Amino acid sequence: MKRVYNFSAGPSMLPEAALKKAAEEMLCHGNSGMSVMEMSHRSKSYEAIIQGAEALLRELMDIPDNYKVLFLQGGASSQFAMVPLNLMGKRKKTSADYVITGQWAKKAAQEAARFGKVNKVASSEDKVYNYIPELDKSKFDPDAAYFHITSNNTIYGTRYTTLPDTGSVPLVSDMSSCILSEVVDVTKFGLIYAGAQKNMGPAGVTVVIIRDDLIGDALEITPTMFRYDIHAENGSMYNTPPTYSVYMLGLVLEWLKSIGGIPAMQKINEEKAKILYDFLDSSSLFKGTVVKKDRSLMNIPFVTGSEELDAKFVREAKERGFENLKGHRTVGGMRASIYNAMPKEGVVALVEFMKEFERMNKIV
Ligand SMILES: Cc1ncc(COP(=O)(O)O)c(C=O)c1O
Repeated sequence: MKRVYNFSAGPSMLPEAALKKAAEEMLCHGNSGMSVMEMSHRSKSYEAIIQGAEALLRELMDIPDNYKVLFLQGGASSQFAMVPLNLMGKRKKTSADYVITGQWAKKAAQEAARFGKVNKVASSEDKVYNYIPELDKSKFDPDAAYFHITSNNTIYGTRYTTLPDTGSVPLVSDMSSCILSEVVDVTKFGLIYAGAQKNMGPAGVTVVIIRDDLIGDALEITPTMFRYDIHAENGSMYNTPPTYSVYMLGLVLEWLKSIGGIPAMQKINEEKAKILYDFLDSSSLFKGTVVKKDRSLMNIPFVTGSEELDAKFVREAKERGFENLKGHRTVGGMRASIYNAMPKEGVVALVEFMKEFERMNKIV
């Protein structure tokens, strides 16, 4: 069976090398005599897997020792609650700054508002989130418990190219759709979180990278499973971790290291995105929907201007082996998600198909 180019926004493509290794080890991992799925999370074999994944993530992202890496469950959506529950208790600070750059940012802010005060610093909702708003520092709350951004906006295809300067207020970022795609200075952040199912592995594990001083002062009402201190003290083993997802994450990180780590990955991602954006900028049929300076490297939305043609394109693309190009249900059009594991050839082939479609569907 031929594998397709899968442009899904997540879960999405995984590196073939990782899938092949998992297939080889499916029945028996190392000399354990069992599949990783069958292992006790307290076994020596599994300990090596989870500790290896953490060590590799620390190495690739250059995570300093004063940050904890947590492998949690509940998706990035649980972090929308965990962040305020754990950080709003800190020094009795009960408000937080949020920049609203899309539905995920909005959901994060709505959840935080259940536990404290949310100060909306800026929003790009007026233009269907097709840009990253300029930030006016006079609107930042110097007493905020933290300042929350969504580094890459999966649905709308925007990303921050410069970080807000929040001074001593910890910067918190949802990096679900861009983690490991470009070099990031972890020390600029108090907390980074990301669901794994786009750039890190299969669904089921959520990675949290948190600076030590932000751990240990959760609000009283915080359920035990939602407390960072509990997970940190127990090395992500307070309860059964998502064992197989963490194992797959480790294999994806091994692949990333083998191709030269994040700097090499960033270069490939910039090349891939340029191929598609250059075509969109020259096309007489397809148009990108995002303000150029804020364009995402990972999620590229585009339209033809005709809903009928959009639907025809998605249909015909699928027949040719380009899957999941339909835009998010709330915005329509198309979206090509070209995460780390999407090979350059996939983007080149897509653009060739778009050129052909354009020739066949010329509006006269
Ligand atoms: C930026 C961003 N944040 C949060 C989420 C929600 O993630 P989860 O489904 O893991 O809760 C997504 C999912 O696509 C996302 O793209």
